[in-house]
Amino acid sequence: MVIMINFDRQRKTFCLRNRYLSYWFYVNEANILQHLFLGSPLADINLLALTNLDTDWSRTYLDKNTNLEGSYQDAFYDGKSMMEIPGFGYADKRGASFIIEDSNKNVATDFRYVSHRIYQGKPLLSQMPCFRDEGNVQTLEITLQDLKRDITLLASYTIYEDYSLILRNNQIINNEEQPIIIRRAYSLNLDLPSKDYSLIHFPGDWCNERREVEEEIDYGLKRLYSNLGRSSHEENPFAFIKEKDAGEYQGTCYAFSFVYSGNFAIDINVDKLKMTRVQVGINDEQFAWNLASKQSFVTPEGLIVYSAKGINGLTQTIHDITREKLINKHFVNKDRPIMLNSWEGCYMDFNTEKIIRYIDDVVSMDAELFVLDDGWFGQRNDDNTSLGDWTVNTQKIDLKRIIEHCHSLGLKFGLWFEPEMINPQSDLFRHHPEFALGDPKVNRSLSRHQLVLDTANKAAIDNVYSQIITILDNYDIDYVKWDHNRNVADAFSLAVSNYQQGEVYHRLMLGSYELINRIVTRYPNILFESCASGGGRFDLGMLYYMPQVWTSDEMDPLQRLFIQYSTSRLYPLSTMGAHVGKHNTAIYSTKAKISCLGIFGYEFDPKTLDAEQKKAVLDVASVYKRNRNLIYSGDVYHLLTPYKQNYMSLLVVSKDKRQGLCLFSNLKKENIEYRFLKLKGLDPQKKYFNSFDHQAYLGSYYMDVGINLCKGLTFLETYLIEITIEE
Ligand code: GLA
Repeated sequence: MVIMINFDRQRKTFCLRNRYLSYWFYVNEANILQHLFLGSPLADINLLALTNLDTDWSRTYLDKNTNLEGSYQDAFYDGKSMMEIPGFGYADKRGASFIIEDSNKNVATDFRYVSHRIYQGKPLLSQMPCFRDEGNVQTLEITLQDLKRDITLLASYTIYEDYSLILRNNQIINNEEQPIIIRRAYSLNLDLPSKDYSLIHFPGDWCNERREVEEEIDYGLKRLYSNLGRSSHEENPFAFIKEKDAGEYQGTCYAFSFVYSGNFAIDINVDKLKMTRVQVGINDEQFAWNLASKQSFVTPEGLIVYSAKGINGLTQTIHDITREKLINKHFVNKDRPIMLNSWEGCYMDFNTEKIIRYIDDVVSMDAELFVLDDGWFGQRNDDNTSLGDWTVNTQKIDLKRIIEHCHSLGLKFGLWFEPEMINPQSDLFRHHPEFALGDPKVNRSLSRHQLVLDTANKAAIDNVYSQIITILDNYDIDYVKWDHNRNVADAFSLAVSNYQQGEVYHRLMLGSYELINRIVTRYPNILFESCASGGGRFDLGMLYYMPQVWTSDEMDPLQRLFIQYSTSRLYPLSTMGAHVGKHNTAIYSTKAKISCLGIFGYEFDPKTLDAEQKKAVLDVASVYKRNRNLIYSGDVYHLLTPYKQNYMSLLVVSKDKRQGLCLFSNLKKENIEYRFLKLKGLDPQKKYFNSFDHQAYLGSYYMDVGINLCKGLTFLETYLIEITIEE
């Protein structure tokens, strides 16, 4: 077993190293953990050279014993050095990892090293999703003690042999006799020795998720965040920091995220000395966790990815670890069925005969799964009612007959749920108004006519759980779409005491995870897809439970090009639901090609397609079927970004370099010009056939010369090019 974590007793340096990176820090003379370096796999560092700060920086103080001026030589104490676990309330004002208030209202937090242990394996979090303990993975767990209070911090640093990343996790233990209030508990901190970086992040909106925005980092604090009770459309919990001269395929870059689906903060703070501090954790807005004596609080798991090969290196590491150590193994590489989802075709306007007709029509389109979306339960014919009443509306549909019909034609069957919500117009609300989140004494904000189910309330979870399993136990269901259609407001829970209301956002998330976990583990063969008004909860937390996500409600293929391009920077293609819709910005052939680099599916009434349109879709469906494994497991290359030019091109190459699939789209009518599409990731010495000009060229030719696109291009002219190695 390769040893990846070392402690040098003399210098008190820690080093986590594999073949991609090394991460160095040390215990200084005041027992504070000082950060040294994250970057290439250095064999050693020079501690003195790295920590040699000008001693003029030392700070003076009034010595209470002598009443004379003394001076700290420990510059770190003055907020000038790189830290691992920055404290709060002392001289370092660049952003704390923890803010903890004790019974005296003292908030100063300062953790000092006590001991450490190194072990094979990694921590698994009992109530939250996290990466799996598999393969050669080692953890350094450091025990730290608060300077003034009896509070312990267990800081875990995990390294896998095969990935260029460090996982972080923190646990706070209250050994005081009195409760403490955790006002901030971040998952990770990384101090970088410069401010010459660019930030890439992924803000957005409903139908406009994860736009790729690049900006320079400069002095001051920039916070990327969600305070919406879910990871949100508005900002995805991922940030890339790249050195200014780094590019798509070269240079030093870092990615930061954590395995969590609720409120988050990513703070990027540049101080006066031009150091950049990056922190990720649960958003501390409206967060106050009461920790009773002898109890502990665990943060979500954070990740720091390092790439010496540009942005693409980040993407590939994130994709690999997500596929190999996070997503349910049973599904990750399994063929995901081509589905037709009923939503865009008929919304809630259906009956048994109509659905049977949909099913009959879609069989001829190579579909493998039919999904009955919203509208099958309670009294639901519009979005005013019935969330919370998970019983079949037998006046509207005969669910058994529909499922049997599906199965008799060889199609799988799927059903839509939105378990974490409740309509005031529902039996559940009438019987249990206390299950709705919010203070009933004030006007609660409705969104889409619904309130949020209080998943901090165990009874509410149990109720919805037993309703859902009654359906899943009694009907032969192969797939579940798990939706979440509003932001969380009114974060007030009747299930906890008034003084605990600052815990509600996190408790909601823990309750939702519990509900999800109970259901997905009870039905290991059901394929679950997460959704939140499209991509409002596309994050590593949800991917732990559900291997795919409905990427966006946006059905305009032009907009989807952008959304899918940038989403695939973060999340594997095997996680991205990408359906062909009825939107008429482009012809069906184009729409289908654009949907091919993802989980291919349909979102229309199959009857509305004429023979030619059906054929166009079927042609792409067969490309998809041939290349499913490649799409799910290959290395992704972002060749041309639509955010900077009028072209979009995305390529996926199999790990063994025998196969590739390339999508090219032209975003605006273009005249003939010199235009060669250069590929990546092929074996330069091997010959590959391509389905564009039906020629075979060497890998080096594709990568250095490129595919000839010297022609006029129409608006949204799109090519899906298969590349196959020649024996
Ligand atoms: C959300 C989803 C849609 C559909 C509707 C149903 O908006 O994103 O795909 O399921 O809910 O109400």
